[in-house]
Amino acid sequence: MSTQAPGRAAVLAGLGASLPVRILDNHEIAGRLDTSDEWIRTRTGIAERRVAGPGESTVDLAAEAGRRALASAGLTGPDAVDAVVLATSTADQLCPASAPQVAARLGLGGAAFDLNAVCSGFVYALATGGGLIAGGVARRVLVIGADTFSSLVDPADRTTVPIFGDGAGAVVLRAGLPDEPGALGPFDLHSEGELAELLWVEAGGAKRRSSDDPRDHFLVMQGTAVFRHACARMAESSRAVLERAGWMVGDVDRFVGHQANIRILQSAAKQLGLPADAVVANIQRVGNTSAASIPLALADACADGTLEPGHRVLLSAFGAGLTWGSTLLRWPDVVPG
Ligand code: COA
Repeated sequence: MSTQAPGRAAVLAGLGASLPVRILDNHEIAGRLDTSDEWIRTRTGIAERRVAGPGESTVDLAAEAGRRALASAGLTGPDAVDAVVLATSTADQLCPASAPQVAARLGLGGAAFDLNAVCSGFVYALATGGGLIAGGVARRVLVIGADTFSSLVDPADRTTVPIFGDGAGAVVLRAGLPDEPGALGPFDLHSEGELAELLWVEAGGAKRRSSDDPRDHFLVMQGTAVFRHACARMAESSRAVLERAGWMVGDVDRFVGHQANIRILQSAAKQLGLPADAVVANIQRVGNTSAASIPLALADACADGTLEPGHRVLLSAFGAGLTWGSTLLRWPDVVPG
């Protein structure tokens, strides 16, 4: 699917992030699974990740990231935004959605719903929030990406435990003009459901509520196949949005891709012809935080000066489903909350 913003655009106007306090480093994982700090670092680029503590959940992380994004945008009160779009595949309950609980924590009473496109969720949610604004349904939207994959990985599985971490990131979108800094778009969004089994949790949903084998309730990943698809699809989708926007590869100052594996980011950048220093990476410290990955990387890069106002930024995500998508913006003058 491709979308082209009409006269009214969604403009990024606030940014926030939230991570659990508990750090799980490679050495701790190597102490209980058949792996090593060296293997994890060289094969994935990850040194440590954050994991939710007892009682800490997706709603907690999402609400804190949302609170910070609203503060960054200078917004307060029940009418601060008209809608909360929460990208997550680890909602606190199977039913209902978690977004209304996040909205309630923030004192917001407008529309609130979850969107599940797994690791592509944040880019899908930007398109959805942008659509609400472009269609005149909302003036401002809080878009959050939050996940706690520590609740989905099998603690005995060395192929997934080292990769995933927990976290949340959020942005405020407001109505504006397509040529303003921060205006989002165009978008490029895709899916390939035939390949769902490459990365999934088989039981727990409507098709198979429960299984006697506890492993069916955990995330199972065919890593090598996922790796190949991620590199190819992120590069392909990035090219599509660049072409649609009339940007050359050389126009891109920063590539903020889904932080799944440093080698995936490097491969996608190489296929695109982007220089290594355009690649924004915080995967070393947070791992793959699924829907939170891109807004967390934006918040870190904004805070440490890697991302500066005026930079032309390419966002590209890939995730289970399979799903993938990309968008572009000129970085606005925002200070993370
Ligand atoms: N520690 C040590 N060895 C490990 C290991 C670990 N944590 N995980 C796997 N291995 C082993 C494998 O068993 C295999 O052993 P074998 O050769 O004896 O069979 C060997 O390392 C190589 O495995 P392979 O899967 O080919 O490694 P890889 O280079 O593809 O790296 C991933 C594995 C998971 C890091 C990589 O495939 C990947 O990042 N995939 C994408 C994951 C992802 O992004 N998922 C989310 C998408 S949104």
